[in-house]
Amino acid sequence: MRRKLAAGNWKMNGTDAALAEVDALIAANPSPMVDLLICPPATLIDRMNRRRGNHALALGGQDCHHAASGAHTGDISAAMLADAGASHVILGHSERRADHGETSEMVRAKALAAQDAGLIAIICVGETLAQREAGQALTVIGAQLAGSVPDNARAARTVVAYEPVWAIGTGKTATTTEIAEVHAAIRAALVARFDAEGTGMRILYGGSVKASNAADIFAVPDVDGALVGGASLKAADFTPIVAALERA
Ligand code: PGA
Repeated sequence: MRRKLAAGNWKMNGTDAALAEVDALIAANPSPMVDLLICPPATLIDRMNRRRGNHALALGGQDCHHAASGAHTGDISAAMLADAGASHVILGHSERRADHGETSEMVRAKALAAQDAGLIAIICVGETLAQREAGQALTVIGAQLAGSVPDNARAARTVVAYEPVWAIGTGKTATTTEIAEVHAAIRAALVARFDAEGTGMRILYGGSVKASNAADIFAVPDVDGALVGGASLKAADFTPIVAALERA
């Protein structure tokens, strides 16, 4: 059985005042039946870690460097994230691939660094609108998956997030038919490559998930949770999504 995961990606949002949202999230989910994760800006991980007390809320980074330490001004290593209290790290988000030119090869190196630091890697894949319209979605996603997930990946430390680039922050969600097709293709590729470990890897959907569409998305086979951007910033928006996942 794969445990469900509700993951919030705060992106470049949040300062000290936003910690009140974590308090509210914890208050609304005293003992969540699903895995609950917030990936705040790295500056807030330590503060959230102190704030969460004994609550099972997990914390994650949004990127890490592929090296453990060294002369890489401005970068953060996986070990540093773990040291601050993170158990997860998002890797290869389309905004990193677009803004920082991250290739799948770079993402794979980061995933290996995450493994070394004991972090769970959430590896993101997804096509652009032009790629979808050209009928290339599954080819693009398959190539990203093959290139980004390391050969020694294990279910306990690997999550894949399908995030169509055109659905991120746009209010447009993929249809349940589109999500079903891609998640089935990702599952098939993971099982072909990793056997039982591939069966155990969780696959999240991301892209304009909100309270009003969450239940439909979570009913799709092989959707094991969500990676949520905008609707994770406020506890009042995120909590109904977590509740929908618990009911799914
Ligand atoms: P969104 O972002 O929910 O705001 O569309 C999702 C993501 O980029 O992870």
